Amino acid sequence: MLEEFVIQGKRQLKGSVTISGAKNSALKLLPATLLTDQMCIVKNVPQVSDINTMIQLLGTLGSSIQRTGDQIRIITPNIKSSLAHYEIVRKMRASTGVLGPLLARHGEASVSLPGGCAIGARPIDIHLDGLSKMGAQIELKDGYVHAKGQLKGAVIHFKFPSMGATENIMMAATLAKGSTRIYNAACEPEIVDLAQLLNKMGAKIRGQGTPDIEIEGVDALHGAEYETMPDRLEAATYAMAALITNGKILLKNTRVEFLEPLRCLNAVKVELTSDGPVVSGSVEDQRPVNITTAPFPGFPTDMQPQMMALLTQVPGMSVISEMLFENRFMHVPELIRLGAKIEVMGRSAHIYGKTPLSGAPVIASDLRGGTALVLAALAAEGETVVKRIYHMDRGYANLMHNLNACGASVERLAQQDQKIQLVR
Ligand code: UD1
Repeated sequence: MLEEFVIQGKRQLKGSVTISGAKNSALKLLPATLLTDQMCIVKNVPQVSDINTMIQLLGTLGSSIQRTGDQIRIITPNIKSSLAHYEIVRKMRASTGVLGPLLARHGEASVSLPGGCAIGARPIDIHLDGLSKMGAQIELKDGYVHAKGQLKGAVIHFKFPSMGATENIMMAATLAKGSTRIYNAACEPEIVDLAQLLNKMGAKIRGQGTPDIEIEGVDALHGAEYETMPDRLEAATYAMAALITNGKILLKNTRVEFLEPLRCLNAVKVELTSDGPVVSGSVEDQRPVNITTAPFPGFPTDMQPQMMALLTQVPGMSVISEMLFENRFMHVPELIRLGAKIEVMGRSAHIYGKTPLSGAPVIASDLRGGTALVLAALAAEGETVVKRIYHMDRGYANLMHNLNACGASVERLAQQDQKIQLVR
């Protein structure tokens, strides 16, 4: 059943939110456990639908999984199948993260090619080039990547610091013969998180968090217990919810450096308390900004739509250039329906603030774009209905509950698709 959020806007948010474990990190920590036949315990795993999809996929490969709240106990005594089926991969591209571990442990893997998604084409050529340099034989057939072979260490130069490719190669290299060097690797905190779990499992990885990663292959990995890092994208989203409503929110279970991308705004107050950072500020006090999305430590593409919603309320013209994904402005027409003034020119959007927003029905097109609509709805006069909220369920645990606990008015209802009768 499709559901929608019904949001009454113009309520100042005040309160606290406990940030979940990072979805993008947990989505790689879980497949990393395929590299051992021993028990692994992954803690602080967010209760979001993308994690359910990963659990489903790992189950088909032979993992036994027990989930208690935010904790997952997972063991894969044998790889029962090395096939990541199209029906799962098409739902979630992060499924391609099983390719490296399956190949390294089992000597073969067949993973559906993910194809494009709403925000862009998203090829996996960098993953495949890296694996073939490590000696994998790769064949693309019937919509699948079929990879097999005994992996050996290699020197790999990425043409772009892809997160997914860095993760796949790093996992594959832990069990390869000899040492692997990745140049121009992604430096995101989630890469460091994954390397830390792998090292706890007995891997020998150095340089994680820098563009130059070295992995010394070992014969086997063992079980480990690991706590997922907090979700930096979720933390920044709630910080922006505070700002767009001129409110104040305490972010529990996060790291203050995750709010670094918000520094582009000039009047954000971040107080450090023993419970976590408290974010406050008035949206009208901010000066317009000029942002370009880039790999870490640049401005994250996954915070771009939410920032755009916020900038609709900042006086003056702001510019956002989206350099990672070619089609990541799908939230723009919906923000315009709420009253925003935004012009898109190629990869850049000009946002003319501040325009008053007023509630209207809008449709979420993807996870972060949908969240931008929720933020705009919080600042809009009257009622906004956001449809297709399954996108937000992929990555935000308790979005409605957390916002309401800070004073928002968000209801979750079965999606009402009104049939309009045209009268001649
Ligand atoms: C990850 C994040 C996603 C985020 C993205 C960019 C997870 C589960 N997802 O996705 O939320 O938006 O990083 O920060 O962590 N590219 C290629 N060839 C490749 C791989 C990537 O051309 O083989 C391009 C992509 O099309 C894109 C750019 O590189 O333009 C970044 O992609 P990548 O870093 O790989 O993103 P993901 O790991 O898929």
